[in-house]
Amino acid sequence: MKLILLCLLELALFAESTFITPLEYATQLYKNPRGIGCQHCHGEMGEGKVIATYAHKNKPRKFVGPAINKTAYATFYKALNKRVKGMPRYFLTDKEIEALYLYLHKDIQQKGKKK
Ligand code: HEC
Repeated sequence: MKLILLCLLELALFAESTFITPLEYATQLYKNPRGIGCQHCHGEMGEGKVIATYAHKNKPRKFVGPAINKTAYATFYKALNKRVKGMPRYFLTDKEIEALYLYLHKDIQQKGKKK
C-alpha cells in the first residue's frame, strides 16, 4: 500500500514538473528508474563498469556491467524487455526506454552526425 502511494506521489510530482526538457527527464530516469539506477552497473554515462571483483576456484573474476552507450536501439530495447542475467528486471514503458536511449546517446544528438 505504501508503495502504491509512493508511486502515485511520484507521478503527481512528475506531472507538475513537465516543463523539464526531454534530456533532463532522461537523465533522471537513468539514475532513478523504478528500481536500482542503471549507473550503478553501467557507469554514469553508460560506458560500462566493473561491478565487483571476486575469486572463483582461486581465479580472479570480474562481474561487469557492459557498455551500453553504443548499443543499437533494437538490442537495447530487447535487453530491457527480457530477463538479462545479472541485471534486475525493469518494467519500463516504450517511452521510458526511448528516454534512456536518448540519455545514453546525447552526445550524438547534440553533435549531429560528426563521428
Ligand atoms: C545490478 C546491475 C545492473 C543494473 C542496475 C542494470 N544493469 Fe543492465 N546489465 C547488467 C549486466 C551484468 C548485463 C550483462 C548481462 C549479460 O552478460 O548477459 C547487463 C546488460 C544490459 C544491456 C544489454 C547490453 C548488450 O549489449 O546486450 C542493456 C541494454 C542494459 N543492461 C541496460 C540497462 C539499463 C538501461 C539499466 C537501467 C534501467 C540497467 N541496465 C541496469 C547489469 C545491470
